[in-house]
Amino acid sequence: MITFHSISDAAKKLRELQKLWSFYPYNNIRRGMLISEKLPYFSPKPLIFPCTSPQSPLGSWTLLNETTLLASSLCSSPFAQGEVHFQESMIPPSRAYLKLWEALMKIGQMPKAGDVCLEVGASPGSWTWVLQQLGASVTAVDRAKLEPSISSLPNVTFMKKDAFSLGPKDFPKLDWIFSDVICYPEKLLSWLRQWLDIQADVNFVCTLKFQGEGGLEVVKEFEKIAGSHVTHLFHNKHELTWFKIKTS
Ligand SMILES: C[S@@+](CC[C@H](N)C(=O)[O-])C[C@H]1O[C@@H](n2cnc3c(N)ncnc32)[C@H](O)[C@@H]1O
Repeated sequence: MITFHSISDAAKKLRELQKLWSFYPYNNIRRGMLISEKLPYFSPKPLIFPCTSPQSPLGSWTLLNETTLLASSLCSSPFAQGEVHFQESMIPPSRAYLKLWEALMKIGQMPKAGDVCLEVGASPGSWTWVLQQLGASVTAVDRAKLEPSISSLPNVTFMKKDAFSLGPKDFPKLDWIFSDVICYPEKLLSWLRQWLDIQADVNFVCTLKFQGEGGLEVVKEFEKIAGSHVTHLFHNKHELTWFKIKTS
C-alpha cells in the first residue's frame, strides 16, 4: 500500500518500483486513469498463436482511495488482470481451441511436425484443428462425430469410441495425449495412470472438469504426479488444466 499526495507523485512511486504497470479500475477511476497516463505506455495487442508468453514483468495496481494505492510488482500472470487475449480464428468449430492455445503457450512447448497425438473427447474438433495446424498427426476419439471439415483434414484420424475403452496397447508410440473429455476427474486419473506407468516420455495436457462445489481433493492426486502441474487458465472457466511435459 502506497500513500501519495498527487497524481505525479503516485506515478513516480510506481515507476520507482518497476517499468510496466496495468491499472485495475476499482475506486477513483478517473484519477487512476490520470496516473496511468503518466506511466510508460502499455497497450498489448492480441497474441497471434503460436507464440510465447510475454517476458517483461508486469505489475498491477489499483486505487483504494484518493491518496492510497495498492500495487504489486510481482504478479502470478504476465498478462494484465491475468486475461490472455488472442487474435481469434473463425475456422475451428467451437471456442475450445482458445484454452489449448493458452495451455501450449504457457507450457512453452507444443507438438511439432510429425509428432503423434492421441486426443480424447475431441468433438466437435477445435483441439484437433490446433494440433493438425501445428503439423502433428492426430487420432481424435469421441463418442460424438467430429465436424466433417475437421475430420477430413490431412493427418487426422477419427475414432468413434468410448475413450476409456482404449489403452496403451492400442497406441504403442505416442508423443502427446490430450483430453478434454467431460468426466469425473477420478475416472480420468485412473485412465491416465496406465499410460503414466508404461510410457514415461509422453506429454499430457488434460482438462479437469468439476460439477458444482467441492470434489477438489482429486486435484491433489493430480499434483502428486511427478513433473506435473495443475493450473487455472483464463480460458478455463469452471475447470482446471493438468499438464505433464517431459524435460528434454
Ligand atoms: C468439451 S467437449 C470437447 C471439445 C473439444 N476439445 C474441442 O475442442 O472441440 C467434451 C467431449 O467429451 C466427449 N466425451 C464424453 N465422454 C466421453 C467418453 N467416455 N469417450 C469419448 N468422448 C467422450 C463428449 O462427447 C464431448 O464431445
